[in-house]
Amino acid sequence: MIYFEKDKKFTGLDFIDINVPSNNVQLEAYYATRKSIFCDEQNLFQETEVDKKDSHSVPIIAVNHYLGFPDAVIGVVRIYEEKKGEWFGGRLGVHKEYRSFSKFVCPKLFSEQVQISSLYKMSIAAGLIYRAVSLANYIGCHKFSAYVQEQNVKLFKRLHWQVVKEVYLHSTKHFLMEANLEAYPATPIYSNSIANSKIYFNY
Ligand SMILES: CC(C)(COP(=O)(O)OP(=O)(O)OC[C@H]1O[C@@H](n2cnc3c(N)ncnc32)[C@H](O)[C@@H]1OP(=O)(O)O)[C@@H](O)C(=O)NCCC(=O)NCCS
Repeated sequence: MIYFEKDKKFTGLDFIDINVPSNNVQLEAYYATRKSIFCDEQNLFQETEVDKKDSHSVPIIAVNHYLGFPDAVIGVVRIYEEKKGEWFGGRLGVHKEYRSFSKFVCPKLFSEQVQISSLYKMSIAAGLIYRAVSLANYIGCHKFSAYVQEQNVKLFKRLHWQVVKEVYLHSTKHFLMEANLEAYPATPIYSNSIANSKIYFNY
């Protein structure tokens, strides 16, 4: 579980928790967020962006909390295993009003063995990516990749990913990128969501 420090600019925002959905309301919000970003905003898909991968994906959400209670889902990502030990991340998205929201720091988040030139400034996207890869690492991943849209390559490079090759998906230029797993130490889920997460993991 990742907690961000309170940002005084956002009145009432206590912290953002990044985790798997713990109830059906959060799961519905996860799909609604994906639809609003990938169908309505980006027009990458027409009616639905849900696909076969969702049957074996682990959904991850960023939830803001007010006065200690969970509020809206503000960001999403999914992870899935393609081949034994080879995981992918996808459908990374953050609600528009929470983009570039990075006035908080998580100095100990990335592994200390990995050289970081300055104190790492988090964003919701960075938190989601961190949670996605560190959870896959915990489940048993030796390779973690994603197809990244061109405008986001810089973000992933900052988070210890490297480009493997250029590809076209949904008629849009993407880059297959791979994470440096040393920067993402295996991290389990520490909340009651673990009970629910069994339905995603199928273990
Ligand atoms: C990509 C995305 C998840 C980044 O979320 P975020 O929490 O804002 O992440 P960051 O604050 O670290 O910003 C990442 C980059 O996006 C830029 N950005 C963030 N919000 C933006 C906005 N509203 N308009 C333009 N650029 C924006 C940031 O300036 C930053 O650019 P940089 O890498 O050149 O510094 C978010 O912009 C999004 O949901 N985009 C639509 C869906 C998408 O593209 N998904 C990724 C598929 S690979």
